[in-house]
Amino acid sequence: MLYSSRVRLIHRTSGTQLANSARDFLAIEGLPVSELTQLLDHAQRLLPSAVGDEPANEVLRGRVVANIFFEDSTRTRVSFEVAARRLGADVVNLGASGSSASKGETLVDTARNIEAMGVDALVVRTSISGGAQLVAQAVDCPVINAGDGRHEHPTQALLDCLALRLRLGALQGARVAIVGDIANSRVARSATHALVRLGAHVVIVGPPALVPSGFAELCKGPGTITITHDLDAIIQEIDAIMMLRVQLERAAGTGIAPDYRAAYGLTVARMAKLRSGVPVLHPGPVNRGVEIDDAVADDTARSVILAQVSCGVAARMAVLVRALDR
Ligand code: NCD
Repeated sequence: MLYSSRVRLIHRTSGTQLANSARDFLAIEGLPVSELTQLLDHAQRLLPSAVGDEPANEVLRGRVVANIFFEDSTRTRVSFEVAARRLGADVVNLGASGSSASKGETLVDTARNIEAMGVDALVVRTSISGGAQLVAQAVDCPVINAGDGRHEHPTQALLDCLALRLRLGALQGARVAIVGDIANSRVARSATHALVRLGAHVVIVGPPALVPSGFAELCKGPGTITITHDLDAIIQEIDAIMMLRVQLERAAGTGIAPDYRAAYGLTVARMAKLRSGVPVLHPGPVNRGVEIDDAVADDTARSVILAQVSCGVAARMAVLVRALDR
């Protein structure tokens, strides 16, 4: 199977693409709810092996996963690597600096060259919105989107939903606030697609300049999307709150407004208004003292930030198995 797919690559003369879309993981948008639920259930079962409490079933032994990360990353890149290794796969890592991207080679050319070495799956992070899809159209092996520009970050949505589900029990009917720079956040887009699909009510909160006007129409039910610019107006009504970083690298203005923390930061005073048991999420990296206070990020009763990171390994294991196990 493996061998024949490589021979296919060598003999390909027409440029015809061999569809592999069922094993790609490019976006939550369009993912059937049954697949979303299956991935979450699988990730939840994998959690003990993801964090090393149990040995994992090394179903990907002998496979090679390439992490192509053309944007900086700490959690996502390491988490994909840990996930692949737990499953017995080998991992190679490529960044923009130190690769021929710095000489002008495109993402797609890079991906095609890595695939030609017989790699079994590509995990791609890029600043190009839609970049993972471009790669998927150009290669035969499965492609996993690890964050593409402002578009989607589908494995982050899986881990967010898993962390929420473990904390809240169920997502159906839960009111989840997503607060901050919505306009530039692939995390917000993917999380909203997933949560609405799973029946949660998403409350988008941020300054008018950082909330796209059409965001409430991003996707259709069974859950809902509402938008507000007033965090204090909804803080006592929510079941979970996800704080986001202002993404200055995506042209979110020249800086953070001096009154940003006062209006949209999860300060200690604001945290005190949350109902008991309401978890605080953040995808990281955290800008302490801006969108979230130190004492909130480190509050062991409220903050599930590190639990999200653990869930991330399990979610990525589930996605890698979906991509490669056969
Ligand atoms: C996020 C990302 O890169 O989109 N981080 C992550 O993957 N954990 C959010 C961010 O960079 O603020």
